[in-house]
Amino acid sequence: MSVRSLAGLLPLYTEGLLSPSATTPAMTSQIQDSVVLKEDTVCTAALQEEGAPQPVSKRQLKKLQRQKQWEEQRELRKIKRKEKRQKRKLERQSQTEANVCSDSRKRIRRDVVPSTLRLFIDCSFDNLMASKDVKKLHKQIQRCYSENRRAMHPVQFHLTSHGGQLKQNMEEHDKGWINWKDIHFQSEHYMKVAKPEDLIYLTSDSPDVLEELDETKAYVIGGLVDHNHHKGITYRQALEHGIRHAQLPLGSFVKMNSRKVLAVNHVFEIILAYLEKKDWKEAFFSVLPQRKGAVPLEGEVVTSKKHSGEEEDKEDEDLESDSSVDETTEL
Ligand SMILES: C[S@@+](CC[C@H](N)C(=O)[O-])C[C@H]1O[C@@H](n2cnc3c(N)ncnc32)[C@H](O)[C@@H]1O
Repeated sequence: MSVRSLAGLLPLYTEGLLSPSATTPAMTSQIQDSVVLKEDTVCTAALQEEGAPQPVSKRQLKKLQRQKQWEEQRELRKIKRKEKRQKRKLERQSQTEANVCSDSRKRIRRDVVPSTLRLFIDCSFDNLMASKDVKKLHKQIQRCYSENRRAMHPVQFHLTSHGGQLKQNMEEHDKGWINWKDIHFQSEHYMKVAKPEDLIYLTSDSPDVLEELDETKAYVIGGLVDHNHHKGITYRQALEHGIRHAQLPLGSFVKMNSRKVLAVNHVFEIILAYLEKKDWKEAFFSVLPQRKGAVPLEGEVVTSKKHSGEEEDKEDEDLESDSSVDETTEL
């Protein structure tokens, strides 16, 4: 840089009007050298002529110090910029991964194929239940609803004979039920909702054992929490209405500690699991809590076994009022 141009920049520099970005490092260093030279000269002159005013003010000196510091921290800033870039890169990467995950979840939702199978919960036993059991039934229904919403093959879910204590309980404790999707609330009895020839009542008291699920049919679960006080009530109903009935093939695959009367939500979930897995044993064990004593029958697979009198007397209160139904997740 010529002496002339340096002389032009020098006053600007000492006044702090020259931005660091407007100069190259070489220029800055040349200017700084000149400032130091000039300072020395001025200071020497000041010493020589005692009492003469100081030409370099403290403010200017401070500015110079700041400038020097700015130059010294150049490397540090470079490192910081690099760190920031890396952080942004990592953030972008994790964002992309999160998008991939949500895409795969969407893909799973897209893979959902609703079943044509109709599954009814028959709520016509409302007046046989004490209010605490109505509350339990409500929770079991909530569980059925949320499981159906997340199932790979959701069923056509109906609540028939919906009214009375149950409806009142739902209105008092779960106002959101009115907005539930993919469920039919019907005050009519199931006999008015489907053709008799399409109906199969699921009941542990039936001598017939379910082997397959027919997706053109309507299966009925008794909406009842009765601690088996009304033993055989759903079986008798099925006989009265002249419709088919069947028990789940539990005895063929599962050795149970106690009775084979399951809670509403367990029966519902077993049906959903079977639609997905097409395997009763897998369906039972994915739903039934093993702590309740459900153990697979080793080696033997018994089919279409008749229900023995011995089993009829067994009862498992625990399964009916299983605490897992309290973990209802609303969707
Ligand atoms: C707690 S149980 C009610 C028991 C009631 N005493 C009865 O006679 O059905 C609830 C409902 O789940 C269904 N269920 C329970 N265990 C079953 C099994 N082993 N096979 C088929 N359905 C079953 C029946 O529809 C039953 O009404």
